[in-house]
Amino acid sequence: MRSIGLIALPAVLLLLCGRGSEGSAPIIITNSPEEIVEGTYVILSCNLTDPTLPISGHEWLKGSKVVQEDKDSSQIMFYNVSEVNAESSGQYTCKFLTTPEVGEVINVTVSPHVIAYKKSEHGNEGDTGVLTCKSSSFPPVELWAWSLVTEGGIEPIVNGSKDRFIIKSSGNKTELRILKLDIEADQGTYACNGTNFLGTTGATVSLRVRSRLAALWPFLGIVAEVIILVTIIFIYEKRRKPDEAPEDEDGGSAPLKSNSGANHDNVRQRNSS
Ligand SMILES: *[C@@H]1O[C@H](CO)[C@@H](O)[C@H](O)[C@H]1NC(C)=O
Ligand SMILES: *[C@@H]1O[C@H](CO)[C@@H](O)[C@H](O)[C@H]1NC(C)=O
Ligand SMILES: *[C@@H]1O[C@H](CO)[C@@H](O)[C@H](O)[C@H]1NC(C)=O
Ligand SMILES: *[C@@H]1O[C@H](CO)[C@@H](O)[C@H](O)[C@H]1NC(C)=O
Ligand SMILES: *[C@@H]1O[C@H](CO)[C@@H](O)[C@H](O)[C@H]1NC(C)=O
Ligand SMILES: *[C@@H]1O[C@H](CO)[C@@H](O)[C@H](O)[C@H]1NC(C)=O
Repeated sequence: MRSIGLIALPAVLLLLCGRGSEGSAPIIITNSPEEIVEGTYVILSCNLTDPTLPISGHEWLKGSKVVQEDKDSSQIMFYNVSEVNAESSGQYTCKFLTTPEVGEVINVTVSPHVIAYKKSEHGNEGDTGVLTCKSSSFPPVELWAWSLVTEGGIEPIVNGSKDRFIIKSSGNKTELRILKLDIEADQGTYACNGTNFLGTTGATVSLRVRSRLAALWPFLGIVAEVIILVTIIFIYEKRRKPDEAPEDEDGGSAPLKSNSGANHDNVRQRNSS
């Protein structure tokens, strides 16, 4: 352990030195977050304050994808986000093509844009109902909440309550599972609300619970159909039988008769038993 520590020490010092030189790296001035307002356009800008660095071009990236590039040598670079919304929100990086490259991240942020995966869901009594909402905007939702919308108001749904409600949430998706669906208690409108530091938005999902019997009707229909068909075939066969039955018996035994005596006896015994 001790020897590993000694080996690791120079590496740590090197890392610290690396940090030190990065600290004195050229400063890039970017937009202030207040300039980014949802529903309008925003010109993102990066201003490289060190005029001594030779610049061979610029790149704008959204996430890891290059969205704009040029070969200019100017100290300042721009990108027009033509409308700030859920789709254009994200992390933009301005990159000055210097050696080494320098860049800065600008967050284009909006409040959550919550949509229901399906506006209405169906479930059978006793089954598990699954309601899903998502938000694809940046930054991700920090807090998801589910509630039942009733005439009397909004009843928040607590995870694990009544041993039937299970909420599973990740950054951009939330799922409400209702176990053992109950027609009276569970049918209704549910709201999912997503919150980040810019605000809260929500969507609604209506859940319909069908009774077990209703779910059985199509099956019962098929069963009835099969019974009727079988009955018809049975009656038809029974009517046909008197004409065809003797022929069948003759036909079946004819080839056996031509066989050896031993076989014949065997067949006879089998027939009589
Ligand atoms: C870029 O930053 C420098 C240093 O702060 C400043 O003098 C200059 O006016 C800025 N340029 C623009 C276009 O904002
Ligand atoms: C940025 O885009 C918006 C919408 O397309 C446009 O109205 C605006 O003039 C553009 N601004 C610049 C400086 O190009
Ligand atoms: C941009 O967003 C990332 C991820 O949410 C965060 O870690 C970072 O601090 C943000 N940067 C600024 C300048 O707000
Ligand atoms: C809800 O409870 C379940 C089970 O206890 C747990 O796995 C899940 O992470 C919880 N969800 C939230 C949003 O806390
Ligand atoms: C949202 O979820 C999808 C699917 O899991 C994932 O691919 C995507 O990266 C997520 N987006 C964000 C912004 O978290
Ligand atoms: C949650 O979303 C619903 C449906 O959009 C909305 O009516 C309700 O006001 C929201 N609740 C909060 C606390 O924002």
